[in-house]
Amino acid sequence: MDNAELTIAVVGLGHVGMPTALGLAELGWRVLGADDDADKVRRIAAGELPFYEPGVEALLGRHLDSSRFRATTDVPAAVEAADVIFVCVGTPQRDDGSADLSQVESVARIIAQRLNGYKLVVEKSTSPVRTAAQIKRTILRHRTGTNHEFDIAVNPEFLREGSAMRDFFNPDRVVLGVESERSRDLLLRIYRPLLQRLAETSGTPLGVDDRVVVTDPATAELMKHAANAFLAMKISFINMVADLCEATGADVTQVARGLGQDPRIGGAFLRAGAGFGGYCLPKDLRAFIQIGAQQGVDVSLLRAVEQINEARVDRLLHKIRQVVWIPRGKTVGILGVAFKPMTDDVREAPSLKIIKRLRSEGAKVRVHDPQAVDNARRVVPEDPDGLVFCASPYDAAAGAHLMVVLTEWKEYLELDLPRLRELMEVPLLIDGRNLFDPAVVRAAGFEYYSIGRP
Ligand code: UGA
Repeated sequence: MDNAELTIAVVGLGHVGMPTALGLAELGWRVLGADDDADKVRRIAAGELPFYEPGVEALLGRHLDSSRFRATTDVPAAVEAADVIFVCVGTPQRDDGSADLSQVESVARIIAQRLNGYKLVVEKSTSPVRTAAQIKRTILRHRTGTNHEFDIAVNPEFLREGSAMRDFFNPDRVVLGVESERSRDLLLRIYRPLLQRLAETSGTPLGVDDRVVVTDPATAELMKHAANAFLAMKISFINMVADLCEATGADVTQVARGLGQDPRIGGAFLRAGAGFGGYCLPKDLRAFIQIGAQQGVDVSLLRAVEQINEARVDRLLHKIRQVVWIPRGKTVGILGVAFKPMTDDVREAPSLKIIKRLRSEGAKVRVHDPQAVDNARRVVPEDPDGLVFCASPYDAAAGAHLMVVLTEWKEYLELDLPRLRELMEVPLLIDGRNLFDPAVVRAAGFEYYSIGRP
């Protein structure tokens, strides 16, 4: 089979499914994107990405034109047409913190009913360890009148929102959790164009051992959860160190730089601030805690990681109160509401909790974000008396007694700080992400506070 003969279905066209589908199309495969959300599919079919993610919309246009990508609401038909099915549906959080796998189960049943030949089912959604085994059991149980073979594999994604396409094409590792040689070879074949590209750009021939980690499905599942839990742990660690720096007059950014020079520690994910949010780290950490607790494993380390993160909001509010004293009757300008820059995603963004708390304490809030205002508005609705979304950072600063940076968008570094200051009632700035150089902000006439820096 050459590339054109293999059809890949990607089920679930969200933040994971869309970059995966278009990345695979770019590698030369014919991809069917399936999602039962008709409105989403209609927009995608018209070339419009339903969320902001750099680079994805351009690839969407390209592969709608090349016919290597097509979107459909008919999940069963896409499954039937496919040789390989990437399961990218949501695994949202249940009230107890565990993952809700009902969408995964429903795709497994559709596959069981549409098994018209050998198929490889690839679990890409982040799922608790042993989900692949459950998918397999479900397909075996529900397949009717057919003995067609199938394999289950786990191929966790390590895509970050805001750089998903870059991460797809430059993976640190490609993890293949497989049970058979057939499924391993098929996945290697799918990723070969990518591995070849990487080999060409690195100048050294890349063997399978260099970037591909082949393991069993349960290990691959656990590896993904462990990766996100470890990243969360690094962030909570540096946030704890930031608190210590604040108490003692040390500088957390310099501590982090020094720590990061040790290759055993590594410099990434040591930025102190308002804490981690988004759809992955908080949810995956909670699911991992649930899994560990169910297995009788001591997960107190991870519980501490979560507690430190939740306390970031209180800590920032405490700082706000220290700076403005009484929030009631004050106007607070917020710069950035997305859970991180380069995305319009506000899920579990610390900014939303801070906005709600400020409102409940009687402050007026003026919010700016370059991309995430529409999504934020759905969670914290506009209120002409107290909560306004603004078209520019300057608008957010109008009459403010305090500005608070909650997302480190690069464009805020380009702000005309003297102009911002003049629009404000009082020139106070709390930088919840250590975006600015303190000397620059102070030189522009601000009283400036940041996280873990003197
Ligand atoms: C995360 C992982 O980084 C990806 O590898 C993974 O594939 C993805 O989850 C997933 O499971 O799908 P993402 O949620 O897009 O990616 O965002 P991150 O870049 O990990 O940032 C998460 C949060 O941590 C953000 O709120 C960010 O502001 C915060 N953060 C990050 C810090 O507070 N400090 C840091 O040093 C780094």
